[in-house]
Amino acid sequence: MRKVEESPFKGWIDTAAVRAKPSLTDFDLSGSVGELSGVQWFVFGAADDFMSHPALRRLGMAERNWLYAARLVQFLDDMTLTEHRIVNTAAQRVAEGRLGARVPEALALDALKLYTDEGYHAWFTAQASRAVREVFRIEAREGPGLKIPAIEALVAAAPAERQDLAWFLVGFVGETMITKAIVDVMRGSAHSAIQALLLAHLEDEWVHAKYFAHLFSLVWAGLDVSGRVYAGGLLPAIIGAFHTWDAAFHRQLLAHVGLDAAASERVLDKVGAETGRAAHQRARCANTLQVLERCGVFKDARVRAQFVTAGLLDRDRPY
Ligand SMILES: [Fe+2]
Ligand SMILES: [Fe+2]
Repeated sequence: MRKVEESPFKGWIDTAAVRAKPSLTDFDLSGSVGELSGVQWFVFGAADDFMSHPALRRLGMAERNWLYAARLVQFLDDMTLTEHRIVNTAAQRVAEGRLGARVPEALALDALKLYTDEGYHAWFTAQASRAVREVFRIEAREGPGLKIPAIEALVAAAPAERQDLAWFLVGFVGETMITKAIVDVMRGSAHSAIQALLLAHLEDEWVHAKYFAHLFSLVWAGLDVSGRVYAGGLLPAIIGAFHTWDAAFHRQLLAHVGLDAAASERVLDKVGAETGRAAHQRARCANTLQVLERCGVFKDARVRAQFVTAGLLDRDRPY
């Protein structure tokens, strides 16, 4: 049986945000609406192609703050859904022991700790979204954006006997990518309450990333040749789905702040092209690719070729 001290969740009772940071439950943005919308909420920088686009410089601070806030709300809402609809579905499969004999029961049950964390993250993230929407008078989204359905459609298309593996791989990609996504948003944010919330989330996600990386090493070792080729095809598709670009959503935002149609299309073309670019995805999922490399995934020529075709690896260079 696996020793307790090997668990990435060692100390979880004392350190998980749900207990260590209970104040996040009442996430609140102090200050009046006028004060809050008058201070700059974002940081210019190369990390955010959208907010840094020259076409937005002609907008006033209130409009730029509103744009930043609307995209932050989108990020938070996607995060909330990812936690309970995507990651926790994967966590259920793990906890039910569906990943094969190589994953010991104690490790499988750790997925329920992760499940608990994600429930709390979903809650405080949804609270934060609501608070930002109130300040900036942003309407609640009616349904999920494009990303969540794109991920779900990928799993739904998997053969019945691969469903558990497909869900696990989705969880693995999501949980090894999320730390970078959170850090990127923190870098672009100039608001301390948002920073504190994201940092608390990040601290849990470092543990989750380690956990899923460890699980992956066991699952991969247990796959036969056809399972590896299947996983090798699905992983780049999952990475792509996590980067689904929503042009219509961004077009709506730009129209709301009064950007003319030609300028708006220039912004959308540039940012959309950048989001879809393999180099961008490689940077965002660097941690995921490192885990795959460590597990020897790219030693398999057929699997490697699938990553090269997706633009996530160079043909001639070692990872
Ligand atoms: Fe989370
Ligand atoms: Fe997580």
